[in-house]
Amino acid sequence: MNQFTPHAAFPTSLLEENDGPGVNPTENPTMGEIISRRFSRRGFLRGSLAVSAIAATVSPIALLTAEKAQAAGASAFSFPEVEAGVDDNHHVAEGYDADVLLRWGDALFADSPEFDPTRQTAAAQARQFGYNNDYVGFIPLAGSAEHGLLVVNHEYTNPHLMFPGIVQIVEGKISQAALTKEQVDIELAAHGGTIVEISREGGKWRVVRDGRFNRRITATTEMELTGPAAGHDRLKTNADPSGTKVIGTVNNCAGGVTPWGTYIMAEENFHGYFSGELPAGHPETANYKRLGVPESGYEWAAHYDRYDLAREPNEPNRFGWIVEVDVMDPNSVPKKRTALGRFKHEGAESIVAKDGRVVFYLGDDERFDYVYKFVTAGTFNPDDRAANMDLLDAGTLYVAKFAEDGTMAWLPLAHGEGPLIAANGFNSQADIVIEPRRAADLLEATKMDRPEDVQPNGTNGKVYVMLTNNTRREEVDGANPRVKNAFGHIIEIDEGGDFTATSAKWEVLLKCGDPSVAEVGASFSTATTANGWFGMPDNCAIDAAGRLWVSTDGNNPKATGRTDGLWAVDTEGEARATSKLFYRVPAGGELCGPVFTPDDQTAFVAVQHPGDGGTDWEAFGRPSYYEDLSTRWPDFRPDMPVRPAVVAITKQGGGKIGV
Ligand code: FEO
Ligand code: CA
Ligand code: CA
Ligand code: CA
Repeated sequence: MNQFTPHAAFPTSLLEENDGPGVNPTENPTMGEIISRRFSRRGFLRGSLAVSAIAATVSPIALLTAEKAQAAGASAFSFPEVEAGVDDNHHVAEGYDADVLLRWGDALFADSPEFDPTRQTAAAQARQFGYNNDYVGFIPLAGSAEHGLLVVNHEYTNPHLMFPGIVQIVEGKISQAALTKEQVDIELAAHGGTIVEISREGGKWRVVRDGRFNRRITATTEMELTGPAAGHDRLKTNADPSGTKVIGTVNNCAGGVTPWGTYIMAEENFHGYFSGELPAGHPETANYKRLGVPESGYEWAAHYDRYDLAREPNEPNRFGWIVEVDVMDPNSVPKKRTALGRFKHEGAESIVAKDGRVVFYLGDDERFDYVYKFVTAGTFNPDDRAANMDLLDAGTLYVAKFAEDGTMAWLPLAHGEGPLIAANGFNSQADIVIEPRRAADLLEATKMDRPEDVQPNGTNGKVYVMLTNNTRREEVDGANPRVKNAFGHIIEIDEGGDFTATSAKWEVLLKCGDPSVAEVGASFSTATTANGWFGMPDNCAIDAAGRLWVSTDGNNPKATGRTDGLWAVDTEGEARATSKLFYRVPAGGELCGPVFTPDDQTAFVAVQHPGDGGTDWEAFGRPSYYEDLSTRWPDFRPDMPVRPAVVAITKQGGGKIGV
């Protein structure tokens, strides 16, 4: 039995928060928590409108502007706002349905065993929907907005919420038993992704069990490494002397759907799966240190040599990539596309530029790491799907450098250019894509406040960068303007209509946090209500109308007096930087994967790790685990644990969302 302090009891929760090399091992409250406690006015704010919420701090002229903005209906969104708060259920705007579509353990195939959490097996899990759904993408079939493939990442596992009988309270402290090999194998099978056919009938979405494209991808699915680093010595292992075959993918956070209809799974906090020590003086020592490898958050190395650095020192170089899956062939081998670099990839959203090249925007989610984009060398052919299938193997990887004057440069990470030469340890492009962080350091890219989703908007030509937070920041710059940035911010990049541009303009769209507390320095519009502001932007989506929706990770009653959720954020005109709460998750959860169907009639969202934590929520006030859960969402059955799930949000009576 492992003994943990309460805070460290659930290491995978920490991993998801992406505490890597910058991890703060203390339990000190964040600045945001301190500010929230000091200035908590939730009783006063709850249910009130903007004008009353901001009355204490905003001038009468600003109030008038807010009233006018609301009266003029300048917002691109129309729905009755949800009241921010926390309880054991999810909540959507009045007039909408939030229907649970897919839960952890749900059957995907004709032979999938029914979910029984007390008798779970790895074999069953591999035929069922995985754990901790994150990225969600919708790939229409035959151009339909009501029939398609849902692609869903399963980022990580929470053993204390998944397995009965492993958590105990001993002398007031939590302890978690070592996992059995079978439990580790369940974890491996609960990772990865799901591809599943869904259709909308009579206004309601349903899963097509045994649909011909249905597939589970897991941490044991065989994958191929392609691109500049494929076959390189640094990627060779005892089990794979070719350096081109990898077993599995892990920590698939956000992702993307390419213009040619493939599914992108971004490998994020892969460092946590590795244990053991590199042999003394091993050449990868500095590389792994920069990435925080190993973190030993999982117990996989006890059963599988590939997660043990002492046994397979090169294995971590085979993770941290962008994975591309051909969803139209359930037997296709997923490809780890090394041209897009190796770091803690949040996601990879893309857009076709004017000249036909395709641009992928990439965030490296760690404090003081970077924003990247990848521009394909080849062009997209809309008439020949097969011709696009290897576009991700050649192109240019750029890193962002933001200047104080509102301009920015995309600096190429190209071998032989500037300092990216053998004298600095870069013998070829392979070395650069294996260590893009170090290459970007040399180019003096801008150290950001944890870049998450980066989303291009084809309607207004802008690109939106979610920066979730960075409580360690001491020195500010224009693009990261707050010290101890507890609530994060959003940057808007304007590439002048050409997504391949190497120079651009930028501005801060909004600084997050409670705008009624002057010390926070938030910058939502004055029309934003007490329910409408948020912290910790993480994922986002642009709907068919070109409107921005932001989902969050890290709001809890302690930090912001509210759970995570989905907020509608105006970007244009008078209403710019106005935010409204549309949906919120049950206690302990995070909201991931917002995506809209092409007709804007459905929003799919992923409720990740509901019921985690527990102490954050005053009404529960103790650690939440399998036998003592803060919520049993979505089943609310005493014999069923809390289950991460994908939810389909539709308007009652039909129609576009938020119109
Ligand atoms: Fe998995 Fe960066 O969130
Ligand atoms: Ca995320
Ligand atoms: Ca997104
Ligand atoms: Ca996050």
